[in-house]
Amino acid sequence: MNVVVIGTGYVGLTTAVSLAMQGHQVAGIDVDESKIIQLRQGKTPFYEPGLDEALPRVLGTGTLRFTTRLQDAAHEATVVFICVGTPSGADGSADLRFLLNAVDNLLELQEKTPAERVIAVKSTVPVGTTDYVAQQLQSFPELHVVSNPEFLREGSALRDALEPSRIVIGAETDRAFALMEQLYLGISAPRVLTTRANAEMIKYASNAFLATRISFMNELARLCDKLGTDVKTVARGMGLDSRIGPEFLQAGLGYGGSCFPKDTTALLQLAKQHEVSLTILEKVREVNLNQPEWFIRRMRDQLATLSGKRIAVLGLSFKPETDDIREAPSLKVLSLLLAEGADVAAYDPVASPSVQRIFPHVTYADTPYDACNGADAAILVTEWKECTQLDWVQVKERMSAPFLFDGRNAWPAKQLKDIGFSYTGVGRS
Ligand SMILES: NC(=O)c1ccc[n+]([C@@H]2O[C@H](COP(=O)([O-])OP(=O)(O)OC[C@H]3O[C@@H](n4cnc5c(N)ncnc54)[C@H](O)[C@@H]3O)[C@@H](O)[C@H]2O)c1
Repeated sequence: MNVVVIGTGYVGLTTAVSLAMQGHQVAGIDVDESKIIQLRQGKTPFYEPGLDEALPRVLGTGTLRFTTRLQDAAHEATVVFICVGTPSGADGSADLRFLLNAVDNLLELQEKTPAERVIAVKSTVPVGTTDYVAQQLQSFPELHVVSNPEFLREGSALRDALEPSRIVIGAETDRAFALMEQLYLGISAPRVLTTRANAEMIKYASNAFLATRISFMNELARLCDKLGTDVKTVARGMGLDSRIGPEFLQAGLGYGGSCFPKDTTALLQLAKQHEVSLTILEKVREVNLNQPEWFIRRMRDQLATLSGKRIAVLGLSFKPETDDIREAPSLKVLSLLLAEGADVAAYDPVASPSVQRIFPHVTYADTPYDACNGADAAILVTEWKECTQLDWVQVKERMSAPFLFDGRNAWPAKQLKDIGFSYTGVGRS
């Protein structure tokens, strides 16, 4: 099928590449000209494993192209995906500016080159948004407006797009479902065929629930800390229960990234607008907001003061295998450490340049070992393997004091204690 993808960020580019890999004829559109120039050269504008190899390969087969002009690419398209960002607005609700701009562009396209098309909203949007888009486009009965939320995870985006856990399609007509089924013919995954509003709610509810599991464990970790129980062992024991499962039970410094923080906030705002209070979710957000502070307080308690202390911060991206630093816990950790007067040296395999633009006064090391040179303490913020699989004897030799703070419970606690480190994890006293 002929497909257009509006917005070539993490979601749009991955969608475009995965559909082109399945033999569809795809055009990726973005308003960011420099991004399009880079993409045409086969270079991914962000770090995402597998995408950097797949992109030049599909470009070579001629099934994928990029442009800044919707009019140039979309006249033959049967399916147009909207994959633009929906960041948090000032009050926490989703800012739909980019989406509405894309809809305006589609109105123009439809006026100039009328044809039957599916407009599929992949951006995460509040319940009711896709119905609103349908209203905006209602003068074109040949258009089918569909909600098709995306569940890929940064770090394994391409694999997730090719082997999704489920495909959720919210539509109002059999024809719309049929066209979407035709598009996803090559993908074997359970289908949820429903209304547009249900599809939108499935996305928000999924992210809110995953965030809830994380905050539940983070709060429990604070109690484990007091009781001398080990939250990591507790999580393993819980996760073996098939009704619970092991995923998203890891205590740490809280969730970050471009989805959980903004989507939980947007869902809370949506509930507020409808005079419903989501008290559990409010607490989920609150626990997450103060988790880094709780852990830094533990650090301060142990080191007596952070002022003047040299601290190595290992890992900066919001999770491993991505360069995305949107809402990353590292940003809070750095700002708390700097506010306490610490002297910070940070390391990340890919995210340092983006963090450096926000925190120019931090030293950015080329290796985790360099970050540990002369450090009074080291804190693990992101569990990159570069930051977890270390030669600990060398780390100890380089540090000036042996304090390790494992913000992700990913360091080998027992081995570290045997070597002579003072080890503090999250909820593992
Ligand atoms: N990143 C994720 O892991 C993820 C996962 C699932 C869902 N989502 C959702 O998908 C959406 C996109 O997220 P993302 O992380 O890919 O965002 P992103 O910020 O990486 O990319 C958005 C892109 O859209 C472009 N854009 C904005 N307005 C445009 C327009 N009118 N025409 C063409 N291009 C335009 C921007 O230049 C940018 O390149 C969001 O709603 C997000 O919540 C993201």
